[in-house]
Amino acid sequence: MPILVETLGEFAQKRPFDGVTLGFRLHLEPKTAVLIEALMAGGARVIAMGNEGTTQFGTAEVLLDIGCEVLDRPGQGSEATAANLAQIASAEPQLILDNGAELIVACLRNSRVPLGATEETTSGAFRLREEHVGEVGFPVIVINDSPLKAIVENKHGVGESVVDTIGRVTNMSLHKKRVAVYGYGWCGRGIALYAERRGADVTVLELDPTKALEAAMDGFDVADASHVPVDANVVITATGRAGVVDLAAIQQLRDGVLLANAGHIDTEIDVEALEQSAPGVELSQSLTRHELPNGKTVFCIADGKIVNLAAYGGIGNPIEAMDLGLTLQARSLAALVAPDCGLEAGPQPVPAAVNDQIATAMLRSMSQPF
Ligand SMILES: NC(=O)c1ccc[n+]([C@@H]2O[C@H](COP(=O)([O-])OP(=O)(O)OC[C@H]3O[C@@H](n4cnc5c(N)ncnc54)[C@H](O)[C@@H]3O)[C@@H](O)[C@H]2O)c1
Repeated sequence: MPILVETLGEFAQKRPFDGVTLGFRLHLEPKTAVLIEALMAGGARVIAMGNEGTTQFGTAEVLLDIGCEVLDRPGQGSEATAANLAQIASAEPQLILDNGAELIVACLRNSRVPLGATEETTSGAFRLREEHVGEVGFPVIVINDSPLKAIVENKHGVGESVVDTIGRVTNMSLHKKRVAVYGYGWCGRGIALYAERRGADVTVLELDPTKALEAAMDGFDVADASHVPVDANVVITATGRAGVVDLAAIQQLRDGVLLANAGHIDTEIDVEALEQSAPGVELSQSLTRHELPNGKTVFCIADGKIVNLAAYGGIGNPIEAMDLGLTLQARSLAALVAPDCGLEAGPQPVPAAVNDQIATAMLRSMSQPF
């Protein structure tokens, strides 16, 4: 994680967080531990908890050893979450790093108003904008809305890891295969691009005519989302919506088609109806074969769950994308304590200067003379 480690070195010299207590809520695993190390190198006292069920206790032990106050304990149930949130809030942190806005909300009534917060997710920002309008008296930088994240993580990270995972689980080459991609948002763009790079012919299915036009201009075949891609060897969904590929569509697909989903919800492809119509036979840990009553065979990866994470051995986005995303966190927190911060209260995008600084650092880490 070269750009985060470079940031750590700079923080160790400049100590931007001296005297600052920082409440940290993000999955506690080896990569986020490097972020915590960077914040502590910059002088912060860090009190940390993960999101439910995501804490890796080996990592938590390492963090405890370096002086981070980790609240999660093995075997704790969901009832511990509220207590841990309250414990961090009672420390009246000046900075908050959150993933879902629960910690920010827990600190809204603190007598010491925080200097600022970062929120990892767009859904957490929605929560603050809709349920807590006018209540957030400090700046909240929304990391997921950074264009850098959309490009490096959602487009290239997801695109590369989804196509890699499908290749690994099936051992199938994509050359001259027809791959149908539902959705041409950030993830769909990347999946279409990496499938094409592996030699596939790609059809994009979209609801939004502007996105469909973009896909056509990018060189892909395009169809309206109501069209069933009957010639596809592989169908991948990336829309974030339920019921995109229903049983009626599955029945019309070609014999031997492979289904995979890259969206966060596991109902984009109606695997439940498929399973009822044609119970799956497990071929490997992440691959099932379904013999439809109409005589066709359908293969499905990871029961329609988010393929690059849920399929056997799925490790999600490449490390470079995490390096970028966590450096956005680190530098946004530093911007919040800078003497010339000048940010207004409420949810807002990552400051342009932070995006520019990190884009330049990542280009340098890629040996590009920028
Ligand atoms: N696999 C991963 O690691 C990973 C990472 C980030 C996001 N995601 C998830 O991937 C999904 C897509 O994310 P995104 O950032 O590309 O979203 P996005 O909003 O940028 O794009 C979604 C696209 O799907 C289109 N769409 C909606 N319904 C459709 C339908 N029925 N048929 C065809 N197109 C349809 C929309 O018009 C839009 O262009 C979300 O569920 C997101 O949470 C997955």
